[in-house]
Formats: sequence, C-alpha cells, structure tokens
Amino acid sequence: MITNKLFPQVEGFLHGGDYNPEQWLDRPDILKKDIEYMKEAGINTVTMGVFSWSVHEPVEGQISFDWLAEIMDELYENGIYTVLATPTGARPAWLDEKYPSAMRCDEMGVRNHHGVRHNHCMQSPEYREKVRIMDSALAERFAGHPGLLMWHISNELGGYCYCDTCRKKFQQWLADRYDHDIEKLNKAWWTTFWSHKFNSFDQIDPPYKNGENCVLGLNLDWKRFSTWSATDFMKFEIDTLRGAGATEPTTTNFMEMFYDYDYHYMKDFIDVISWDNYPELHNNWQTDADQLLERSFNHALFRSMKKNKPFMMMESAPGLVNWRPFNKYRRPGMHELISMQAIATGSDTVQYFQIRKSRGSSEQWHGAVIDHIGTNDTRVFKEVAKLGADLKTISEVAGTLSDNKVAILFDWDNRWAIDDAWALAKDTKNFDKTCMSIYNEFMSLGVEPDIISSDMDWSDYKIICAPMLYVLHDGVGEKIADFVRNGGQFMSTYFTGYVNKDLLANLGGFPGDGLSQVFGLRSEEIDTLYPEDKNSISIIDKAGKPSYSAPVSDYQELLRDVTAEVLARYDGDYVAGKPAITRNSFGEGFAYYVACRTNQNDIEFLYREMLEHAGIAYTKLPVGVEKHTRFAEDAKYDFYLNGNTEDVTVKDVAGVELLTGENVSGTLVLKGYGVAVVKS
Ligand code: GLA
Repeated sequence: MITNKLFPQVEGFLHGGDYNPEQWLDRPDILKKDIEYMKEAGINTVTMGVFSWSVHEPVEGQISFDWLAEIMDELYENGIYTVLATPTGARPAWLDEKYPSAMRCDEMGVRNHHGVRHNHCMQSPEYREKVRIMDSALAERFAGHPGLLMWHISNELGGYCYCDTCRKKFQQWLADRYDHDIEKLNKAWWTTFWSHKFNSFDQIDPPYKNGENCVLGLNLDWKRFSTWSATDFMKFEIDTLRGAGATEPTTTNFMEMFYDYDYHYMKDFIDVISWDNYPELHNNWQTDADQLLERSFNHALFRSMKKNKPFMMMESAPGLVNWRPFNKYRRPGMHELISMQAIATGSDTVQYFQIRKSRGSSEQWHGAVIDHIGTNDTRVFKEVAKLGADLKTISEVAGTLSDNKVAILFDWDNRWAIDDAWALAKDTKNFDKTCMSIYNEFMSLGVEPDIISSDMDWSDYKIICAPMLYVLHDGVGEKIADFVRNGGQFMSTYFTGYVNKDLLANLGGFPGDGLSQVFGLRSEEIDTLYPEDKNSISIIDKAGKPSYSAPVSDYQELLRDVTAEVLARYDGDYVAGKPAITRNSFGEGFAYYVACRTNQNDIEFLYREMLEHAGIAYTKLPVGVEKHTRFAEDAKYDFYLNGNTEDVTVKDVAGVELLTGENVSGTLVLKGYGVAVVKS
C-alpha cells in the first residue's frame, strides 16, 4: 500500500481553516491574539483570501497584497501554513458597475443586480480578464512562498447562467458534441416529438423557465454544459496561476451531494479533492448516527474521486452554522467525533469555516474557533484545542489510504435524468437516499464502500451495487458483463438500464445494453405505489420455502423471461407470486436483481451472501457505530466512531488504541460520541 502525504512539509494532519484577518486590519491586538490562540489550539494552517477581492483591489487597477504578505509571513514564522484562495467567488462593486457582464443572468434570462456572492458568469470575457489580472498578480507575488501549501480556486463553484454569452457557448458546445450535425442532435433528443425539431444549432436556447424545458435531452445537456462551463472557468484560473509561476497543488472546495455539476468530470482538473462538510446534527427527524452516516457517504464519495491520495475536509463548523432553518450547537463531544470521522474516512485535514467570528454582516453568528467574547476558554475553543492535540497524537496516520473492495455506482447524469424523467412518483424517486441506504447496510456489517462512477476503473472491487442505474453510458453494459463474468458480485435494482446516454429508451426490454442476459430476466412494467399502498415479498430459504416477508414501498417491477434463480417473490397485488429478487450465475460471478424497493436491512441476507462470495470478512456492528480503516505499509488503523450518546461495546477488536495508548484485546468500550483509533 502506497502512502501519500498531501503536504510533506507539514507534520501530521492539517488543522485550521478560513481566516479573514482583512476584517481586522485596524486591530493589531486581535491579529496578535489570533496567532497565539491558533498555536494553543494546534492549528497549523489557515485559508486566506477567499473573499478578499475588494481589499486586494479597492479600486480598479490598484492591486496591493502587502497586508496579506505581512500576515502570511508572520503566520509562517509561527508554524502556520497558508492555503491561498483566488478571490473570484465575490466581486467588488466597482467591477460589476463597470463590467455588468460579470453578473449572472437568471433562468428567465434576466441580469442579476450586483451583490451577494457566487453569482458570476463563468464565460463573461470581461470578468475573465479581471480574473486573469488578479490571479496573475497573486501568483507572481506568492508562488513559492515557503508558507504556501496550495491554491484554493474560487469558492464553492455552483449555479447556472442564462445570459447571451452562455447561450452562444451552449450552442457551440452542442455543435461540438453532435459533430456539427443538427440531425444527430435531433435524433438524440427525439425532437420529432411535439414538433421540437431544430434546423440549426443557433436556434437552441438554454432551458429558460419560460422557454423550452420539456426536451429532456436538452435539459440534460444543459447540465453537462454547465459542468463544462464551471470546469472551464476553474481551469482558466488554474492555467492563469500556473502561467504566472505557481507550482503548488490546486483544489476547489466541493459541496455535499452537490446537484448542479458533475464532480466526476471536474475532479480530473484539480490536484486534491476537498469538500465542505456541514452536518445537520441533533435534528428532529433522524438520529445523530444516521446523520453521521450521511456524512460518511459524502466522505466516501469525495475520497473515491482520487483514491491514491487523501482528501481534505476544507470547511466544517466549530459549534454551529447560522444558515439552517434551526441552528443548533454541536453537543459536547460531537466536535471530536465528527472531525475524526473525516480523518477516519481518508481526509488528511480538519478545517473550519472560520477561525475568528466576523463582527458584522450575514455570517456574524456562524460558529468559529474564536468567538466574539475573544477568549480561549470557551467550550468550542477547548473542544477544538482538544481535537488539535488528538490529531497530533495520531499524526502517523496522515498519508495512509483506504483500500475498499465494495463500491456503489453514483453517476451525476443518472441522478439528473431520474429526477427529470416524467415517470414514477415526483416525491419518492429518492435516488440519493437509495444509494445511501445500500451504503448504510454495508457499514452496519463493518464494510466500508467506495462511491464511484460507471466510467471509473472498477478493477479494485469485488462487489459493485448499482441501484437505479437508469442511464447506461456507452459500453457500461459490457463493462458490467465483464465484471460479473470475471467473478464479480453485481447488484442492481428496479429502474436500471432503461435509457442510453441520450435518454432514449433501450429497445428490447430492460435492463438494456445486453444486461438482460447478465441478470437473466427482463422487466416489463414498473409500478408506482402510494405511501399507503401495501405489498410485501417473501424471501425464499435454501430449502425453497418462504422464510420471512419484507415490506415493499414506492416501486415494484413486473419481471418476465426470468432464467435467474428466484430468491424472493411478491406476496400480493397484481404481481403476487412473481419474482422480486433474483440471482443469476454468469461466468465466474453473480448478478443480483432487486425488482422492488425494500428496506435494505430486510434483505441483509443478500449482502452477507455477496460478501461471502467475495471473501470479504464482516461483523455486524452495534447500532450507531461506524468502522473505517486506513492502511499504511506495515500497519492498519481501524477507526471506531460511536454516534450514540450511550456507551457501546464492540467485539473482536485487537491492537493499540492510539488516543489512550492502551492495548485492546477482545472488546472495545466506546463512550457516548466516543472515538477509538486502533492500530494493528
Ligand atoms: C460555505 C462557504 C463559506 C461560509 C460557510 C458557512 O461553505 O464556503 O464561505 O459561508 O459556507 O457555513
């Protein structure tokens, strides 16, 4: 196992976060205290410059970074490194006033007014030029600074722009995609339906709210284009920095389950994956442990984007956020647990928004390491400092990697296409939740899955689950067939293989693209259930008898031409007696098909069977406990996280618990919200 530290110059993990000293330039006493407190809290990195444009360049052309250089030097002298952001996430008023094309147009095509942030047009030539000047100046001044760790591109890139420049770019992008042949596009989008045919690419608009938004291929291509556009903007910034001498690694901070762009496309253009983690803890609809599992799924999604190096948790909230409907403080112990979860899943950083709480404006009540009270004895500060010390204790774990053999397929365009399909029920499609429920089932068995795309390399995996793989990219049917043929365990569900990458229905039965053979069945109907509709399936035991029954919700498919072995049959409704879960032996492996929505826990036998076939050891963990593993060349580190407020005991644990230094042999007792890092 190769280990790969992100920043060899830093010992152990990065601990720190967004720091905005520009808000306090008239308070040298505060800036001095900040450094003192950071050191006390074991903070060794800050992210600066995220929204600093109007301080960098208060008036057009008058750029000065002296304030930043001075602070960066001082931090470095004190052992604190800097992640330096390009300030393009928000613009000064002078810029929008002089170059209105920098402001985005909304989905009616109407230009926004100046203000807020993250609202720039990624294709505006005037904005690009201003960005080029700013980023070049930054790189010329700071590239090679010994305290500079990396470049942080813009901030949380997101959203769509419907301006005229973007409309034209979209048309060009479509022309390239369809080989400048409008008939190819007409065919792919099935435009003879409702007389939607186009004669030329320049007739095509973005899916304006009051325009053409019923051509599903157009909607999907618009999202693909917008991903391209944001990536193009990000690449422009990276190229500008590089052109001006920057050699440090780059990242941009991704967001949880982000919907606007396909991160699987964007990931290849940055050096390190980072994301902003804002759990809705202690909420009134789920347990903390379930909320932790959602975080865990996200960590897995981001980790799996670049498996050969750790990722970064670029932002998280000390204490609380201030933008949720209810803003609740993290209860004592949760800070350590949620931060250690990032480390456990493969992050080499715990970073916050923000180090010092701003005094005014919309984020003045957002959590921070240093609060308005200004002391180092607050509950939050003390918890941050404890974490800082614990991160030092386990610093040998930095640079180690995960090595998972189970994966779940999660394609962005599949997600968009499912939501946009005029099918099923509007409110219960729940693709994301379905993926998460499969993830959670493996986690309950102590097995951590990766989250991957259908286009990634699958060679590391022995089990792949592809729930609701509605869209099949070119070649994916064959890829699945090869995977199973060569001994893989592949599980799929209802609503799989219905359409090709252009959203045209696969003819000849679902799942298409040769998959009917792999699964040994065809699906003829998918039926939608109301929440109060009742049906169930009976699981058939080894002797061929029904052993227990499990409820069905939301969706049930009617299968036909089933040559696969039947593992469960429907109990009621018009599908009574028909196959509901099947297993097909194909080549050296098995292809499983779950034709209806069930509780994953009710079909745990399937998971156990796949794991057994794949030779992967598993142990049922106590409810609310997560286990994650990171590997070094000569050691492995098992992280145990207790999402319950009560103590729990985990069995069959052996090794040295690094946080306490104690030997564990047999049982491990985890306190409420407790964490253990067991080296063996
Ligand atoms: C986002 C942004 C930060 C800050 C935080 C608040 O993640 O990147 O600038 O606004 O949210 O939670």
